[in-house]
Amino acid sequence: MTRGRFITFEGIDGAGKTTQIDALEKHLREHGIEVVRSREPGGTPVGEKIREMLLNDEMTVRTETLLFFAGRAEHVETKIKPALERGAWVLSDRFADATYAYQVGGKGFSSEETEALEAWTLKGFAPDMTVLFDLSPETAEKRRHVRAGEEDRFERENKAFFEAVRAAYLDRAERNAERFLTVNAGDTPEAIAAVIKEGVARWL
Ligand code: TYD
Repeated sequence: MTRGRFITFEGIDGAGKTTQIDALEKHLREHGIEVVRSREPGGTPVGEKIREMLLNDEMTVRTETLLFFAGRAEHVETKIKPALERGAWVLSDRFADATYAYQVGGKGFSSEETEALEAWTLKGFAPDMTVLFDLSPETAEKRRHVRAGEEDRFERENKAFFEAVRAAYLDRAERNAERFLTVNAGDTPEAIAAVIKEGVARWL
C-alpha cells in the first residue's frame, strides 16, 4: 500500500478554500482514493475543544501558539499519520503555516520560538503540498461579509493585521517553494480547480 498524500490549504479568511477542498475531494474519489477531510484548529475531539477556546477566549499570543501546536500534535498522531499509512489522502483546511502567518506575521510572535516548537512537535513532518489562496484583504473582507455567521476572534482583526498575515504566507511560500502552490484566489473557481488538479497529477 502506498502512503497517502497530505495536502493543506491556507490563506486569509474568506479566500474560498472550502469550495476547492470540496472539488479536490471529488476529483480524488473519482480516482478511487480514500479522502480524509480535516481542519485546524480542530480535527480531533480534543482539537475541537481547543478550537472553542482559541476562537472565543482572550489569551496571550504565547498561550495561543502553544494551544495551536497542542491541537496539531494530537491531529498528526491520531488522525493524519494513521490515515496516510493506510493509503488515504488527508486534506486539511489549515496547518502549521497558519501559525507562521497569524501568530508570527500577524501578531509578532517570535519565529525562532515557533520554529523550535514546530521541530519539537512535528519532528520534520510536513505537508506534501500546500495550496495557498492569495487574496487582498479588501476582497477577502467583502467575501466574509456575504457569508452568514458571526465573526470569530481572528476575523475581527483589522486590515493591517490581514496584510501582515498575507505577507507572511507569501514569505512562507517563497521559502518552501518545493511544496507550495500559490493560487490567485480572485480567479474563477474553475480556473483554480484546474491548477490544483494539475498540482496533484504527478501522484495519480
Ligand atoms: P478557520 O477554521 O479557518 O475559521 P473559520 O471557521 O472562521 O473559517 O480558522 C480559525 C482561525 O484560526 C482563522 O482565523 C485562522 C486562525 N489560525 C491561527 O491564527 N493560527 C493557526 O495556527 C491556525 C491553524 C489558525
